[in-house]
Amino acid sequence: RRTAAVIPAAGRGVRLGPGAPKALRALNGTPMLVHAVRAMAASRAVSLVVVVAPPDGAREVKRLLDAHALPERTDYLVVPGGDSRQESVRLGLDALPDDITTVLVHDAARPLVPEETVDAVVAAVHGGSPAVVPALPLADTVKQVEPATGGEAEAVVATPDRATLRAVQTPQGFDRETLVRAHGTVTENVTDDASMVEQLGLRVVVVPGHEEAFKVTRPLDLVLAEAVLARRRA
Ligand code: CTP
Ligand code: MG
Repeated sequence: RRTAAVIPAAGRGVRLGPGAPKALRALNGTPMLVHAVRAMAASRAVSLVVVVAPPDGAREVKRLLDAHALPERTDYLVVPGGDSRQESVRLGLDALPDDITTVLVHDAARPLVPEETVDAVVAAVHGGSPAVVPALPLADTVKQVEPATGGEAEAVVATPDRATLRAVQTPQGFDRETLVRAHGTVTENVTDDASMVEQLGLRVVVVPGHEEAFKVTRPLDLVLAEAVLARRRA
């Protein structure tokens, strides 16, 4: 029984604004991707980390990993990514050695996820759940809207009961065979891996997420991430 973490890191980071690909941006002097790789390798359960680099950036990412201290009991692989997150994850899955039975998929854009969250996801998969997501309750009320047409403002269609909603994070954990089958079956675009498993009709279970597993998406998130890192070092 061996666990690998696939880290999709091939996105541009359009919402973060102009600059280097998001995963290569520095947080307190260290590239976001290196923080994310360390976060996965921090779990004793993870024996291999597969980084899915920007399509033309695999060499640069390899150099980056060589230049930073990483746990030695973990193996590291770098493969080039694709045009969508889904495609990037699939390219990462294609690179897994045969003896991997459990797969975590973790956004490079969630560099600060604590070890306890990684371990909780792995434990739930090893406990028999083929698909596991870490998630948190929502702070905001969420509205469903209809698409704006012409010059019209968006209008609210419905307000789902907030108590039944969760904001889903990564790492998401899977029985390897289940995740590979989901990626081979579902073709429409999705924003996470668990939704593909849901489409197979399988049960996806939830474990507690963590506030520090937030995704760096917009410029303000960089401010928060650097503050969290500074607090950890204090
Ligand atoms: N990702 C990827 N390949 C893509 C697109 C996204 O590997 N073609 C990765 C990103 O690098 C990121 C994760 O998927 O680690 C989550 O995606 P997101 O936060 O949306 O990152 P970006 O797509 O880079 O950002 P944006 O949507 O703002 O452009
Ligand atoms: Mg994106």
